[in-house]
Amino acid sequence: MCGIIGYIGNKNAVPILMEGLKRLEYRGYDSSGIGLINRKKLSVHKKEGKISVLEKTLSKTIHGKSGIAHTRWATHGQVNDINAHPQVSANGRIAVVHNGIIDNYSSLKSRLTSEGFKFQSETDTEVIAHLLQKYYTGDPEEAVQKALAQLDGTYGLIILFLDHPDILIGARNGSPLVVGVGEKEMLLASDVNALIAHTRQVFYVEDRETVLITKDSYKTVNMNNSVVSKQIEKIEWEMAEFEKGDFNHFMLKEIFEQPEVIRRSYGGGGRLLPGFGTAKLGGLNIEKSEYFDIDNIVTMGMGTAYYAAMIGAYLLENMARIPTVAEQSSELRYRNTIVRKGTLFFAVSQSGETLDTLTAMREIQNRGGRVLGICNSVGSTIARESDGGVYIHAGPEIAVASTKAFISQVSVFFLLALMLGRMRDIPTSAGKQYISELTAIPDKISEILEKADELKTLANKYKHYKNILFLSRGINYPVALEGALKLKEISYIHAEGFSAGDIKHGPIALVNEETPSLFIVTKGETFDKLLGNMEEIKARKGKVIAISNSEDNRIKDLSDDFFLIPESHEMVSPLLTVIPLQLFAYYIADALGKDVDQPRNLAKTVTVE
Ligand code: M6R
Repeated sequence: MCGIIGYIGNKNAVPILMEGLKRLEYRGYDSSGIGLINRKKLSVHKKEGKISVLEKTLSKTIHGKSGIAHTRWATHGQVNDINAHPQVSANGRIAVVHNGIIDNYSSLKSRLTSEGFKFQSETDTEVIAHLLQKYYTGDPEEAVQKALAQLDGTYGLIILFLDHPDILIGARNGSPLVVGVGEKEMLLASDVNALIAHTRQVFYVEDRETVLITKDSYKTVNMNNSVVSKQIEKIEWEMAEFEKGDFNHFMLKEIFEQPEVIRRSYGGGGRLLPGFGTAKLGGLNIEKSEYFDIDNIVTMGMGTAYYAAMIGAYLLENMARIPTVAEQSSELRYRNTIVRKGTLFFAVSQSGETLDTLTAMREIQNRGGRVLGICNSVGSTIARESDGGVYIHAGPEIAVASTKAFISQVSVFFLLALMLGRMRDIPTSAGKQYISELTAIPDKISEILEKADELKTLANKYKHYKNILFLSRGINYPVALEGALKLKEISYIHAEGFSAGDIKHGPIALVNEETPSLFIVTKGETFDKLLGNMEEIKARKGKVIAISNSEDNRIKDLSDDFFLIPESHEMVSPLLTVIPLQLFAYYIADALGKDVDQPRNLAKTVTVE
């Protein structure tokens, strides 16, 4: 979850590392630090708080041509200056930044303590710094290999040796690490975001590999010390995509990008075959005939990606008529899941680095299963290790609260369901109808965005409530869960999503004048049932907010507040119903003065289990 970056070259590393850290801040932001070598001295500066706090404390005079930096999401030890990284060896000659968790740190710490090493911090990372000192006898690569051999757990590491100012060493096991190859400069980071202002030429370090960089060379070796050759890739994302532009927050910018993002998800038409009423998706690595061997599908993800996976399951069952279930990756991984020849798995992840999903994917693959990825970050670990997959092309998502990735994931599932459905039961005419429903979505999202002020007013009315329920049924039930997640993660208001049918089995006990319920009521089979559920809330004096594509007077009569969205086919309705919920959460959090883009306790990329 933490962000790490290293630089070596002819320029002053300080502004490069600080700028890189800001681009990584979404990964963790409770403390940060920088380590540099200058005039044969290793200097380390660390501060609790956001990167801006560290920045203020840095003197303009510090510089160095090689350095490492870190932004932290605490796992071991409190949030304070001492536990911030870099962590430094006892003799002050080796500094380390680390993203991940060392599972056996406690036994290593006892052993090192008994050998005389004095620990300053409560972190697991400090054991790495001391181990490196212990094994260092002049050859830094040897010391790294010996130290790594002692570690159980996950790490993305960048190491600075005072005795070798012309090199940086990186190592990876389970936490991402990418090398940026520049002109007379080289960078290492947990994320390409941090590099692309300097170079677009990158390569990825794989698990159990270490990489040694100088300003004009690199060498990657595996655990057996054999050299691994690397293919340089070009990163296509534009710098503007990493800027807020005229928006106050990345989250708002990303919400407003969604019409365009949906167009990109179907390749501006390139992923559609309108004449045949179907979709075509390259990269799945499945022979056409193999599609008929799919007996069932399992979709998985975490958080918002899991809710997209739930909608995916709904779409695949309804349109392709293939039995499908959605699971949280963290549960699937440890429940001895059944893997059979006819089962196809989908791993959904914006970042492509979520460890819960990655470990579940690896478990399934190790048992012979086939896992396809639905990812946003090009070149991410899940994208690379999956057996095939589809990029959602949402562009960089910076706000911790996921918005545009969600609708793109849903849109890609719609394409998959359409493609598989057309191979089975969906006739051409219905396929064509589905395509026109999807391609109408961007303009319909724009219509909702034009009414953002209505949602701002609504947010101001409800911002002081302590609890809010989100209710719906069918394909919009996961949207209710997503609406509640958005609200709780950025406003800290307690919000829960339920299927409206389930509330009478318990949750309705929560309803009173102080607990409003937000209903998503779309035309379709459960419309009347949802009206009945609204009645049940009203009967208990609960306030009702309705988001609906129907102007039926009964909804207006039953709701205290009503927000109209454009009509659509039920199967694409989540692409519209979620938009007002995103804006509702955003405006509440902003009105309450919360840190919308970097909510407390969270990080954008969750690389611990
Ligand atoms: O990168 P991923 O899509 O795998 O991330 C999964 C979740 O951590 C993520 O969706 C999280 O729930 C968001 N903060 C929700 O807004």
